[in-house]
Amino acid sequence: MQHDASHDSIAVIDFGGQYAHLIATKVRRSRVLAEIRQPEDPIEDFHKYKGIILSGSPALSSFGEDSAYTKEIYNLDVPILGFCFGHQEIAKHYGGKVVNGKQEWGHADLHIQREHPLFAGLDKVEQVWMSHFDSVTAIGPDFEELGYTILGEGGTPHHFAAIGSDKLRRYGFQYHPEVDDTLHGNEMIANFVLNICECKPTWTMDSYVADQVKKIRQQVGDGSVFLLASGGVDSTVAARLFGEALGPDRLHLLHVDNGLMRKEESLAVVEMFKELGLAKNFHFIDATDTFLNNLEGMIEPEQKRRSIGDTFIEVFESEARRLGIEDHLLGQGTIYPDTIESGATKRADTIKTHHNRVPIIEEMIAAGKIIEPLADLYKVEVRELGEMLGIPHDMIWRHPFPGPGLGVRLLCSDGVVSDEDQLAKIGPKVSQSMTKFGLQALPLPIKSVGVKADLRSYEHPVLIHGDADWDTLAEASGTIFKTVDGINRTLWNLGANLPKTMRTVAATMTKDRLDLLRECDFLMMDALQRHDLYDQIWQCPTVLVPLEIDGVGQELCILRPIHSERAMTATAGRLPKKLLDELRQSILALPGISGLAYDLTSKPPGTIEWE
Ligand code: XMP
Repeated sequence: MQHDASHDSIAVIDFGGQYAHLIATKVRRSRVLAEIRQPEDPIEDFHKYKGIILSGSPALSSFGEDSAYTKEIYNLDVPILGFCFGHQEIAKHYGGKVVNGKQEWGHADLHIQREHPLFAGLDKVEQVWMSHFDSVTAIGPDFEELGYTILGEGGTPHHFAAIGSDKLRRYGFQYHPEVDDTLHGNEMIANFVLNICECKPTWTMDSYVADQVKKIRQQVGDGSVFLLASGGVDSTVAARLFGEALGPDRLHLLHVDNGLMRKEESLAVVEMFKELGLAKNFHFIDATDTFLNNLEGMIEPEQKRRSIGDTFIEVFESEARRLGIEDHLLGQGTIYPDTIESGATKRADTIKTHHNRVPIIEEMIAAGKIIEPLADLYKVEVRELGEMLGIPHDMIWRHPFPGPGLGVRLLCSDGVVSDEDQLAKIGPKVSQSMTKFGLQALPLPIKSVGVKADLRSYEHPVLIHGDADWDTLAEASGTIFKTVDGINRTLWNLGANLPKTMRTVAATMTKDRLDLLRECDFLMMDALQRHDLYDQIWQCPTVLVPLEIDGVGQELCILRPIHSERAMTATAGRLPKKLLDELRQSILALPGISGLAYDLTSKPPGTIEWE
């Protein structure tokens, strides 16, 4: 990303795990720009920052794991603060000691030793959140202990929870101030950024708009921009920003209906752009047939994803040629996490391919043909910006919808169960593990994608059946993965009985199946709106699985309401009984539907989407 030298900024070194993005978001709440840097980035890349934060890591400092990073940062004359692993690295570098042991998990009380600008405005004892195997057991000569923790009533002090050297301007927190369980973590981070690094809080959304308008005008010159408008939050906010900078005449929007959209989605998108006053050069193409022809006969999830991605490029290129606008810069609503190794960290396994950075787009970026005005922002910031630019609230707070659309929610099959032996083995084990909860259980003869220990898994879901309260269901779901191998999802049966027979039906991506899924998805979304739950649920995929149950229908419908912050982890969202009863009535009555189930799986071990 292009660094903006007009604002003070902080580097967050990403040592892996999920911490770095959280830290950066929290720094930015102080209206100071934070950028993610990789541990091996050259020292020159760090010269522009007014301070550096070292993130936590799944690695162990005591064993010297992951200690290959640009250590010259310690020669820079700017303040450095480390959290957890980062804290231990700082302690070690300046003559302290780190050992494996004295772990702490969960809430702890931080006892602050003295008044210090890092803790300005805070109490003498603060709740913090710990998650570590390694501990600092000695600090170097220039350092002092700024705080220790006590775990539980009457516990003994655990030293060096917060350390610092005002002379060197180096500090460390063993706890994680970036997670909400550290009650005043935001204040601690703001204190570092504003009091210790003395950054000026100038990075506001107003300034962002002004900066971007200037940049867009510079990059586009007398030309025009061509933007793919999916109707999602990011491309809509980007369109609005381009409109602000260039006016409606020099902005061309293309909306492609790939046949994998929600019910009446494309119509709604067209209407919205009219309302936003950006419809002057709005082009719409219904490419359903092209997408479905290319998907014909495909079953394997990754193959389907690739086909949808490739067709998108094919359609977009031919449309650009047809409209005579292929010379325009291509606008994209790419956001910050997507620019950093597809959203997670560099070390993360590819669980599923993402469409943001396919080779052809990379080539266009290298040739300077892409313009991405949101590439510095996190989702929450895009939403804040969208609200500021007057985009309607309902549009801004829509659930995220994946690029490949309903394509990853309509499972396909050749009708053959390849691993019947394995299923026969799993069957009795899952039943046994559920008896203590008073539930019955049955593995499904199909597979879905999940994520285990940061790696992709492709395993069987289990259908559980019986009356139980929410806590029991949640506990049962958590237990099953621990006791039985080869499973990555738990579904709660919303049908009247546990199925006696289940038959995998041969099924591919057809318009009829997509229409049925669209109807189920519409009923689910409508129910969330009517029960005032839409804003409380972060996302809610509806999925069809080609299964005949007890000789009836061909599609098992799955509801997957989840809570999440950044989609890296998720938990199942709870739906009220009345809503579920309504959906039993409406969805089970649709022709072709064989059953209805409620996905209770957390991420990990499931992913949010099924493919
Ligand atoms: P998973 O299924 O990996 O999804 O837990 C995490 C989040 O990413 C969305 N998702 C995608 N979004 N293109 C996208 O733009 C994709 O290919 C894609 N795949 C998954 C998913 O809906 C969830 O919000």
